[in-house]
Amino acid sequence: MDYQKIIKEVSREVDPLKCKGIVADYIPELAKVPKDKFGIYMLTLDQEEYCTGDCHEKFSIQSISKVFMLALAVSKGKESVYKRVGVEPSGDPFNSLVQLEYEKGIPRNPFINAGALVITDILLSQYKDARAEFLNYLNRLVGQEDLKYNRKIAASEKACGYKNAAMVNLMKSFGNIENDVDEVLDLYFDFCSVDMTCHELAKAFRVFANHGTGVIDEEQYLTESQYKRITAIMQTCGFYDEAGEFAFQVGLPGKSGVGGGIAAILPNEYSIVVWSPGLNEKGNSLAGMKALELFTTKTETSIF
Ligand code: DON
Repeated sequence: MDYQKIIKEVSREVDPLKCKGIVADYIPELAKVPKDKFGIYMLTLDQEEYCTGDCHEKFSIQSISKVFMLALAVSKGKESVYKRVGVEPSGDPFNSLVQLEYEKGIPRNPFINAGALVITDILLSQYKDARAEFLNYLNRLVGQEDLKYNRKIAASEKACGYKNAAMVNLMKSFGNIENDVDEVLDLYFDFCSVDMTCHELAKAFRVFANHGTGVIDEEQYLTESQYKRITAIMQTCGFYDEAGEFAFQVGLPGKSGVGGGIAAILPNEYSIVVWSPGLNEKGNSLAGMKALELFTTKTETSIF
C-alpha cells in the first residue's frame, strides 16, 4: 500500500476544509493559532513513516493528554480508578456539567473534562510530584526528553476556566475529589497545555497500537488488560458527543483535542495523527475528521 501517496491525496482533498471551522477561542491563547495549519504523520509498527504538511510543528495537545493521564493512573496498578470514573459515553459536550449532579459526582468517563479532572486528582494523590511524573512518562512514550508544559496556554486557560472550576467543586461536594480544588485545576491545565508535533504524538500513540509496549524501547507501559480497556474507551468516548460519528466514519479508536489534533490507532498496525486547528461545533477538528475518514476509506483499514 502506498501510504505516502494516499496521505498526500487526502491532504489535497481536504484543502477546501482547511480554513473552515472555528479555532478554540475560550482559551484565548489558542485563538492565536493560524487556521490554515495542517499536518499528518503516520507510523507503522514496522517503523515505516509517512507524513505531510506542518507535521513537525508543535501544537497544544489539550484533551489528547487525557489518554496519557489515564494510562499513567492505571499503570500504577490502580484499576480502582474505574470506581471513581465510569466508562460510558456521555453523549454530551466535553465540558458539560448536566450529568454530574444526578450521577452524584461520578463522571461518565475519563475522556470528558470531569473525568480527566478526577484522574488528575488521582495522580496528585498517587505521586509526590505528579507534574514531573506525567512529563517524564510522556517523554518516555515518545522517546525524547524535551517535552514541556506551555505555561502561557495553561495560564490562559486558568484565567477563563470557569466550567472546569465548577466541575471540580461539584465533584468535591460529592466526595470524589481528594485534593485541593485549585491544585487539581492547575495540574489539569498543565497536563492539557503540553505542545507536541504530529510526529511526537504518533510516536506516543504507537505504544497503544502495540498493545501498550514501546516499539523502540520495548518497555511494557501497560498490561494487555489495561491496553484493552484504554483502547475501548478511546473507541467509545474519544470524541464526546461525536464518538458514534467518528466510529461510523473513521472506524479507529482515537482522541481529539481542542488544539485541533486527532490521534488514532489501528491496533497491531499503525498510529496516525492529524492536526488542523479549525474545529466543528462539537470541538473536534473539522478537516482532521474528514482527513481520517478519507484515509481509512482509501486504505480500507479500520478495526471493523
Ligand atoms: O478543559 C478544557 O476545556 C481543555 N483544556 C481541553 C478540552 C478539549 O481539548 C476538548 N477536546 N476536543
